[in-house]
Amino acid sequence: MNKSLPPKTISGFSKMSKLGKIRWIVENFFKDPERVMQELKQYWLHREEDQKILDAISENTITTFPMPYSVAPNFIINGRTYCVPMVTEESSVVAAASSAAKFWMTRGGFHTELIDVEKVGHVHFVWRGEEAKLRQHFDELKALLLEQTAELTANMRKRGGGIRDIDLRTVVEVPIAHYYQLVVTFDTCDSMGANFINTVLEAFARILRQYFLTAPHFSDAERDVEILMAILSNYTPQSRVHAEVRCAIEELGEIEGYSAEEFARRFKMAIDIARHDIYRAVTHNKGIFNGVDAVVIATGNDFRAVEACGHSYAVQDGLYRGLSQCSLDDGTFRFWLELPMAVGTVGGLTRLHPIARRSLELLGFPSAKELMQIIAAVGLAQNFAAVRSLITTGIQKGHMKMHLNNILLELGATEEQSRAAVEYFKDKTVSYRAVADFIRQFKNSC
Ligand code: MEV
Repeated sequence: MNKSLPPKTISGFSKMSKLGKIRWIVENFFKDPERVMQELKQYWLHREEDQKILDAISENTITTFPMPYSVAPNFIINGRTYCVPMVTEESSVVAAASSAAKFWMTRGGFHTELIDVEKVGHVHFVWRGEEAKLRQHFDELKALLLEQTAELTANMRKRGGGIRDIDLRTVVEVPIAHYYQLVVTFDTCDSMGANFINTVLEAFARILRQYFLTAPHFSDAERDVEILMAILSNYTPQSRVHAEVRCAIEELGEIEGYSAEEFARRFKMAIDIARHDIYRAVTHNKGIFNGVDAVVIATGNDFRAVEACGHSYAVQDGLYRGLSQCSLDDGTFRFWLELPMAVGTVGGLTRLHPIARRSLELLGFPSAKELMQIIAAVGLAQNFAAVRSLITTGIQKGHMKMHLNNILLELGATEEQSRAAVEYFKDKTVSYRAVADFIRQFKNSC
């Protein structure tokens, strides 16, 4: 093989064997193919059946990508104790969540409440007939849609869910003439429901097309319907949860040299800034999603869906706002968050992924509703910890402690060198250069 050629493109890659794929990759993109081949294979899961599951979940899988799987203990949520699984690559996230959980453990814990679990999807179509006529016959269409998907929805209905309602919507903001949406709301019980919803919506699209073709009250000119797409919406403001912590202000105690009153006042200011300034709000919400995503990933759920939904909810009134709020009325510190999301505890990866399954077991096999509340509580805890640091010590103190460990790992420091470095950098600024210099001098002095 001519190594001076630029990396090649390939056809039929997906049909190649796994080893064939790896060989093609290492030979075309790496300087030391044999070594990289071994490395990639090293990260295959030990149990062949587990690796096969991962291979089947995605396409062109050549290895696995390890991430730290951590737990944050001591989460008291509605009086029940949870040890929460978290998958994140960011130092300090789990330490911060754990520390906030511990802080609130002795102050009543987290109080959460499910608002609803309604999901929504749309069939988008263009139809050039009389809107009034469509509306006049809409109940008939609705009955047909329900009747002809009864088999598809039977299982979900047996579990207590299914289609909640079907509506017809015109969207004036969309600059397309004669454009309509069938708005379909669902309860998908303990599943996130994406497959169920999309299957039903695609069936609706077919039924809709047939309806215009055959219903006797439409003229020939009205038989033509252009179905554009049928898809769930990841914006699910009606699938929402509320999480809150509260205590008497004096119960907050002294925090990093600030009196409880001073801390509460500064805390509220920080939350209010995020409510009104987009620059702060985005970072503030990113901090919330540090915790949210970590649990969503650990339980095999779709973190892109949860993020997309949460951020859109943050801008629901036109200004992107911090998702959490704080009040200090009547001597009480209240800090809360409302978060929409769609997650599941059955279906998808949740039971298939070997570790996601264990995450759910660790949480006591929660229902989707309970999982939503756990996730929101962790998001709130994460936000509390971040803002607590920001308004007291600053976040770099904690971050740099973790960062120091990463640098020491990267430098291959021994245990003795690491211990000395941790002691030395207690009150000094950590940088790669400073740590490397310290290790060099330490070695020389021994
Ligand atoms: C860092 O990942 C998250 C924070 O920036 C969040 C915040 O500023 O609130 C600490």
